[in-house]
Amino acid sequence: MLEATHIRKSFGDTRVLKDVSLRVSRGEVVAIIGRSGSGKSTLLRCLNDLETVDGGEIRIGGQALVTMQAGQPVYKKDGERRALMLKMGMVFQSYHLFPHCSVLRNLTMPQKLVLGRGDGEAEAKARDLLAKVGLSDKAGAYPCQLSGGQCQRVAIARALCMDPDILCFDEPTSALDPQLTQEVLGVIRRLAQEKRTMIVVTHEMRFARDVADRVIYMEDGVVVQDGPAQEVLGDHRSDAIRAFAGE
Ligand SMILES: Nc1ncnc2c1ncn2[C@@H]1O[C@H](COP(=O)(O)OP(=O)(O)O)[C@@H](O)[C@H]1O
Ligand SMILES: [Mg+2]
Repeated sequence: MLEATHIRKSFGDTRVLKDVSLRVSRGEVVAIIGRSGSGKSTLLRCLNDLETVDGGEIRIGGQALVTMQAGQPVYKKDGERRALMLKMGMVFQSYHLFPHCSVLRNLTMPQKLVLGRGDGEAEAKARDLLAKVGLSDKAGAYPCQLSGGQCQRVAIARALCMDPDILCFDEPTSALDPQLTQEVLGVIRRLAQEKRTMIVVTHEMRFARDVADRVIYMEDGVVVQDGPAQEVLGDHRSDAIRAFAGE
């Protein structure tokens, strides 16, 4: 479903990703954990084409976004590149909703602008997904009238409206208090039960252990561990993971 190999990325002299590889199969939930600054967001941003790589290859659904040619990364041409990125959805820590638009419009506008859907179809899809995240009664509300947890559930519904093949979350609950965190994690759990393909950067270790099929632990721009959640986070977890978890 998604394959990234030998990804390298620097900002100036800072080497943020040093030869990172990652595979995600259809229906798999992969959690990425690691200390702040280890490169998790940069990796997600490269996979979503919000940053360009300095080296390495990325394939989504078998199609190349970027390949190495004569030692240099070469990206697909614009049209194909945009079409390919429609397969990816992204949910950010800080929601990124349009503040001056109602919840419903936040969900319909991207469908109309990017996918060319008509009003009726876009609205039906939006209402369907609002129901799914338990916010049918908030269609007419504005983001400032919602709690952080509700905003994040709107952001998840908005991403789902675009029918992505792979949904990525970058610390979706780090701005939320414990109760709102559980509300948002509950929505992600249900998506996992539906066998959606997801990559979730998270600090919620229990969530990662319970919901993820695989857990990737990053340190300082490299993947230190990549294995079944029970192996990486279970009773036989490594000293590195114990140290990371503050045990
Ligand atoms: N746009 C940027 N410009 C310069 N440095 C950046 C940029 N984005 C991230 N970094 C640096 O890259 C490193 C990894 O950041 P990040 O990927 O956000 O890590 P994480 O998400 O694991 O906390 C940090 O040292 C950060 O300061
Ligand atoms: Mg981050």
